[in-house]
Amino acid sequence: MERTLSIIKPDGVAKNVIGEVIKRFETDSIKIAAMKMIKLTKTQAQGFYAVHRERPFFDSLTDFMTSGPIVVMVLEGKDVIAKNRKLMGATNFKEAEDGTIRKDYATDIEKNVVHGSDAPETAAFEIGYFFNDLEIQER
Ligand code: CMP
Repeated sequence: MERTLSIIKPDGVAKNVIGEVIKRFETDSIKIAAMKMIKLTKTQAQGFYAVHRERPFFDSLTDFMTSGPIVVMVLEGKDVIAKNRKLMGATNFKEAEDGTIRKDYATDIEKNVVHGSDAPETAAFEIGYFFNDLEIQER
């Protein structure tokens, strides 16, 4: 059993696709072990995306991530990191496979609807960034 962090970004919340994204997870037998809606501060967004701080898109990305509420979730299941990344599709929606969340709803390489952890180590950091143990249910 594995866990990963999923975020429905401000563009996804604004497009009213929270339910659609969750439906895709549950249809693929992924369990939601924790969930909340929050609005990040700039400092919180910078901390979350600290690995990207030298990238040219860092300032724009952290502005975007604070532009409205987001939904953060802990997903649980077998191989859930890879499974979630397959459901999301490529970061750049133009390269995403048909039927993926980003192919269907993203409008921009930055405004790409969802985020998902890319490895067990990043999942542990990202889950801990938003949730404590008491907020995560065994599913
Ligand atoms: P995410 O999977 O959350 O990880 C980093 C985010 O930076 C990415 O999705 C995009 O929202 C954003 N981003 C903006 N420009 C780029 C880019 N050129 N390459 C990768 N990520 C980008």
